[in-house]
Amino acid sequence: MNKTPVVVITGADRGLGFGLCKNFLEKGWLVYAGQYIPDWPELSSLSEKYPEKLRIVPLDVSSIESVKKAAEKVGKEVGYVDVLINNAGITAPTNKLDIREQQNYDDIHRVYDVNALGPIRVMEVFLPLVDKGSLKRLCFVSSEAGSIGACERTAWYGYCMSKAALNMAVKITFNRLRPEGYTFRVYHPGWVRSYMSGKKNYEADLEPEEAARYAVNYFMSGTEYSELDKEIDEDNLILRDYLLNEWPW
Ligand SMILES: NC(=O)c1ccc[n+]([C@@H]2O[C@H](COP(=O)([O-])OP(=O)(O)OC[C@H]3O[C@@H](n4cnc5c(N)ncnc54)[C@H](OP(=O)(O)O)[C@@H]3O)[C@@H](O)[C@H]2O)c1
Repeated sequence: MNKTPVVVITGADRGLGFGLCKNFLEKGWLVYAGQYIPDWPELSSLSEKYPEKLRIVPLDVSSIESVKKAAEKVGKEVGYVDVLINNAGITAPTNKLDIREQQNYDDIHRVYDVNALGPIRVMEVFLPLVDKGSLKRLCFVSSEAGSIGACERTAWYGYCMSKAALNMAVKITFNRLRPEGYTFRVYHPGWVRSYMSGKKNYEADLEPEEAARYAVNYFMSGTEYSELDKEIDEDNLILRDYLLNEWPW
């Protein structure tokens, strides 16, 4: 691992992404936090506690220009990335519509653009920096909602399809980059008390900080930053949840 390990996290303003930032900062990492909502206060208050180690970078994963600008900043400032975490994700209230209702295709496109295409943009642009990192680990916050094998929903086209598509994108990338030494984590974080519906969901199971602890433990498995000493078969791509259960694709 590099002397100062570097992680890039997308969608870091709040929810799981913010929890991930805090967790990596506590572990002494240099954190590039992708900021999407400039007027949300949590990241700036966190930077008061970690003025050197937390670097806030504007990052909209639906815009290739924005992703390029963010990577330029990281490239100029440190020149490498050890771990890249694709966390940003959205849903839309109209996703709840079933096939007997009129779909909102603009919303479906938007969800797909952020959840499925966003991580491809981020990987493509950041890859030269991850090439220079010492771990070469790509992490993806997917969802049980992307599992076709376990699906029992009768609606939620945009969100479920976007996560299934993300899983496929990861598999294709895994096939291409695993022979170069890259390692991958595809992950369902559990039901998190986050802001996906626009306001904090207190009905869910896990506070973002708790969800982040589980997530980092799995993302960093096989390194000194995880308590998971269980051997991970890096040649076998698996969709896992926060309790380490395997999900069908
Ligand atoms: N919450 C759950 O129970 C759950 C379950 C399974 C999987 N997940 C996944 O977990 C990940 C994190 O979600 P979360 O639950 O922590 O939700 P969240 O609180 O809404 O956090 C996601 C963050 O990403 C931001 N974002 C939205 N569009 C973006 C864009 N184009 N570029 C960069 N960032 C953008 C969001 O901003 P806005 O708030 O302005 O949209 C928000 O700050 C997502 O991929 C989600 O699909 C969540």
